[in-house]
Amino acid sequence: MRVLITAGPTYEPLDPVRFLGNRSTGKMGYALAEAFAAAGATVVLISGPTHLPDPLHPAIGTTRVETAVEMFTAAAAVADAADIWVFAAAVADYRPAAVAQEKIKKSGETLTLDLVKNVDIASTLGQRKRPEQFAVGFALETTNELAHAQDKLRRKGFNLIIMNSLRDVGAGFGHDTNKVTVLDQAGAVLNFELKNKTDLAVDLVALVLARFQLLHPAV
Ligand code: CTP
Repeated sequence: MRVLITAGPTYEPLDPVRFLGNRSTGKMGYALAEAFAAAGATVVLISGPTHLPDPLHPAIGTTRVETAVEMFTAAAAVADAADIWVFAAAVADYRPAAVAQEKIKKSGETLTLDLVKNVDIASTLGQRKRPEQFAVGFALETTNELAHAQDKLRRKGFNLIIMNSLRDVGAGFGHDTNKVTVLDQAGAVLNFELKNKTDLAVDLVALVLARFQLLHPAV
């Protein structure tokens, strides 16, 4: 069983000292990497910048990247060989249109940045997904959570989507705990209790492997 996991934020450079980023810590993706490895899988963990050390488990290979484009290139290189894809990264949807070679100097009272859309890693890889491959996405929502997550599941070709609501105390970015709801393609909704991310990852891996086996009774 080979598993590809994207994790952490992406940093999109503006100039040699500044970037656009987000508050993802990578904890959920790293916990999933550990849980898949503990379940016997070989894991490629493609991580944006985090403060976490590389996982020590010998079945986890970690590739460090900075930008969405780098994360896409690293993921695309291993996607065909992976049985399961888990998109846990908080990828920046836009990046600065140009990266200044020198530090941008302070001038006017306002500053307008031109941004261009980044590649959607999950959607782009989804277009070449084979029927026997299994894709898991994440959705971080603040309103109309179920409807938005269901829409993302369909648009991005996920088999399962793991939804966080920022309205839940202790869920999402920066916390050691998380509270998620998992949706599948048939419209089933599975609620998980608030748990620390390590325990939640073990439960999620058990669910993903059980669903994967349903696609592959012989594996
Ligand atoms: N994702 C990705 N590449 C992107 C953006 C998102 O691979 N450029 C993946 C995330 O890793 C996650 C899923 O897509 O598994 C949903 O991410 P999210 O940011 O919630 O979705 P968006 O399509 O960016 O929707 P929104 O309009 O809510 O930002």
